[in-house]
Amino acid sequence: MKGVIRLAALTRSYGTTTAVDGVDLEVRAGELITLVGPSGSGKSTILRLIAGLDRPDSGRILVDDVDVARMPAHRRAVAMVFQDYALFPHLTVLGNLTFGLRVRKVRRAEADQRARIAAQRLGIGDLLDRYPDQMSGGQRQRVALARALLRDPSVYLLDEPLASLDAPLRFATRADLLALHRELRTTTIHVTHDQHEAMTLGDRVVVLAAGQIRQVGPPQQVYDAPADTFVAGFLGSPPMNLVPGGGVLGGDATLTLGVRPEDLTLDDAGRIAATVEAVEALGSEAILLTRCPDGTRLTVRTGPRPGVGPGDEVRLRADRLHRFDAATGRRR
Ligand SMILES: Nc1ncnc2c1ncn2[C@@H]1O[C@H](COP(=O)(O)OP(=O)(O)O)[C@@H](O)[C@H]1O
Ligand SMILES: [Mg+2]
Repeated sequence: MKGVIRLAALTRSYGTTTAVDGVDLEVRAGELITLVGPSGSGKSTILRLIAGLDRPDSGRILVDDVDVARMPAHRRAVAMVFQDYALFPHLTVLGNLTFGLRVRKVRRAEADQRARIAAQRLGIGDLLDRYPDQMSGGQRQRVALARALLRDPSVYLLDEPLASLDAPLRFATRADLLALHRELRTTTIHVTHDQHEAMTLGDRVVVLAAGQIRQVGPPQQVYDAPADTFVAGFLGSPPMNLVPGGGVLGGDATLTLGVRPEDLTLDDAGRIAATVEAVEALGSEAILLTRCPDGTRLTVRTGPRPGVGPGDEVRLRADRLHRFDAATGRRR
């Protein structure tokens, strides 16, 4: 099967910044993998290295067992979609879609025909005569995706393709991307800093920090058993409560204990005493910001009407504790 990517000890530095720091990763044929991490963690650099828009300092990039590290971008069977779409402003949608085909000497009638089919598939079939500045962000994004489809690559590299869309459109486009992937089954690396995307899109999620992979796994598995305190704090909103030394959660000085906001429950028989400082009512749920007598802050997720308010003394029960080494932050 086409579309297996192997990265081995991949490293790229810019001056004193190591953007990608010894990354090993295998992406299976047909897999949709999300690469998630904070801004500056090296996500775009990894995609650019795979696409051939940048060269690694060391390490290997294998696509279907061929080392492409020194191969020019246009010879790699990958299509990249950029966050800013990178459309040609002086070309219509049709012109943007057919440009690459024409460069590859596809005849105009055939190029137009293929562009129409790709545009239809992405719901922009009636916009072929528009210029990029005559379209919304969501429409431009679909042009960029249609252009990638036309390359018929072994691998799609999507760099935060939904980041500049507003929430409802992001939701709809996310569903479309998933449907498209189910249909095409083309290997896809989807970069995002949005954890909803990371949790819902990928077969597996790769968590990146400062150019290094912290954890790889199915989203729910990474969520349920984060490999270290960074991953624990990064995936989940609000983030996991982390208490160095265990404190109100018990434990000992060699541990950092963690508990997710949804695993803390208001319970009169609970062992943890706390004072409610604020209540964020979010409609479908509420977030309580509480503080314990020793100063520890705990965030609690409750149902929409928790029946408590700022200043109330409450008791909490912690159901699922995560144990991390206090010194290294690694899961124990
Ligand atoms: N062309 C470049 N020149 C200098 N520094 C760069 C360049 N590209 C990326 N970097 C640096 O490398 C790090 C990783 O960048 P990037 O891969 O864009 O991160 P992300 O996409 O996760 O936000 C950042 O510190 C960034 O400033
Ligand atoms: Mg980026």
